[in-house]
Amino acid sequence: MKQIAILGFGIVGGGIPTVLTESAEQIRRTVGDGVDVKYILDLRDFPDSPYGDRVIRSIDTILADPEIEAVCEAMGGLRPAYEFTAACLKAGKSVVTSNKELVSEKGGELLALARENGGAYLFEGSVGGGIPLIRPFLTSFAGERVKEAAGIVNGTTNYILTAMQSGRSFEDTLREAQALGYAEREPSADVDGIDAKRKIMILTSLCSGILPDAADVYAEGIRDVTVSDMEGAKKAGGTLRLIAKTVTGERGVSAGVCPMIVPAAHPLSGVNGVYNAVSLTLPATGDILYYGRGAGRLPTAAALVSDLCAVLSGAAGAERLPDFEKKPAGTLVPFESLPTDAYVRTGLPSAEAEEILAAAADSVERLDGGGSEFVLRGCSVPQVKGLLPDARIIRILR
Ligand code: HSE
Repeated sequence: MKQIAILGFGIVGGGIPTVLTESAEQIRRTVGDGVDVKYILDLRDFPDSPYGDRVIRSIDTILADPEIEAVCEAMGGLRPAYEFTAACLKAGKSVVTSNKELVSEKGGELLALARENGGAYLFEGSVGGGIPLIRPFLTSFAGERVKEAAGIVNGTTNYILTAMQSGRSFEDTLREAQALGYAEREPSADVDGIDAKRKIMILTSLCSGILPDAADVYAEGIRDVTVSDMEGAKKAGGTLRLIAKTVTGERGVSAGVCPMIVPAAHPLSGVNGVYNAVSLTLPATGDILYYGRGAGRLPTAAALVSDLCAVLSGAAGAERLPDFEKKPAGTLVPFESLPTDAYVRTGLPSAEAEEILAAAADSVERLDGGGSEFVLRGCSVPQVKGLLPDARIIRILR
């Protein structure tokens, strides 16, 4: 029997024993042995859990136990998850995690530590929850560089924006998302785009090998999205979603998160509620779409267990880990400067606005409906902002 340790017995960590038990036969086939939880590191006691007797308080117990080959880090946050992960890797253990904050901040350093000590650091659960999105970068795409990744990677904001399509306000739908347990009482990480930014930093590293500085990655959340924006998106032929995007082009690498209009014909159209989807573009393969449950106890725990199986079966080794080269601020091409299509709404009379906008885009199309609303093709958002400072500008996903 293989023995593992879990750091943090919260929502995701608490789901790991369930997946290990429910999928015990499949796991035994993959790993060639059973997998059991020997330790749970947490500050709390869990007297009602059948695993309550495995709770320990000190990481040293895990570090000193040669039976523990793999550790699941499900604590979240930077500290002490960073110190504990580094200590486990230095002790030659492999670590699997869903902690996007830690991977996006310290992934380069932790991957190097894993390599130096002959272990693995795997993070399938950090982006897209249960969607098997990360391992393909290390296996299936080994012969190609992914040029572009665009996705809906935050379930909470996708739930809110989907609910707003029926004319409800941001505040009203946020309250509902909080009551349903999707959004935290302090919802900033989700609604201000911080969570999606961490995830696109991880995808940027997988696409380009560069782990960007957080200051280089543009992030705009959904707090300012109004019912008029949702209607405008519909008039422009799409739906408004929080999109995270990373592009590796001739000018370099760009990454950012912002509300965008997803055209009805785009593969990401129709991704509703708490679901996530990521579309990838590869030079030879073309476009690929991943879709599934991007959050939640069991889908995320299943991603951790899948990484565990990769470690314990020997399929994941130090030699297969990706390069995350941490780069200083100023390395990325600013996301705002990328040419884009955009929806623009202004208070100016249509004819006057159209004349001004013609100088800032390859083409300008006036939208029906009486307002001063336009679709611009091939424009620069900072330039449009400079010309019409009071206009509402929303990028359209290409
Ligand atoms: N708060 C995140 C979301 C959880 O809503 O997508 C999963 O990372």
